Amino acid sequence: MEIDEPRHPLTPYDLIGGEKQVRTLVDCFYDLMDEDPDYFGIRKLHPTSLDGSRDKLFKFLMGWLGGPPLYEQEYGHPRLRARHLPYAIASAERDQWMQCMVRAMAETGIDPVLQKRLAQSFFQTADWMRNRDG
Ligand code: HEM
Repeated sequence: MEIDEPRHPLTPYDLIGGEKQVRTLVDCFYDLMDEDPDYFGIRKLHPTSLDGSRDKLFKFLMGWLGGPPLYEQEYGHPRLRARHLPYAIASAERDQWMQCMVRAMAETGIDPVLQKRLAQSFFQTADWMRNRDG
């Protein structure tokens, strides 16, 4: 092994630029959802104040991207599908969530190759969250 070869492969968390960039991504995502009428369909599923949603998604993504598992430490197993059952999520809601996240990743300035990779993973999770036909 070369002396300066990293001992572990870099995680998406490292590649994105760590905690500060995860925070920027989440803020950008919810700012867009709050401001752009294209996302009203999913905005209206959320509470009036998005503060709690921002905090939870931030903590979840920290671990999901390969950083510290803050969400699990605080709330236990994410059980994401079960936690989304109270909200009617069909293809339209999945697609709005994805469009909002794809724009947030671009605005955050994430490396385009990583954006593409993350978009695929986000899509799988968002698709699995669907709990209504249509
Ligand atoms: C498919 C479309 C989706 C819709 C419409 C949606 C909507 C929502 C709503 C309305 C909440 C409740 C917010 C609150 O209590 O403040 C929520 C919570 C959450 N969502 Fe989503 N979501 C979607 C996809 C995703 C995806 C793909 C992820 C992860 C990559 C995710 C991660 C979370 C997390 C971590 C929470 C907090 C759960 C909790 O502890 O209560 N969501 N989502």
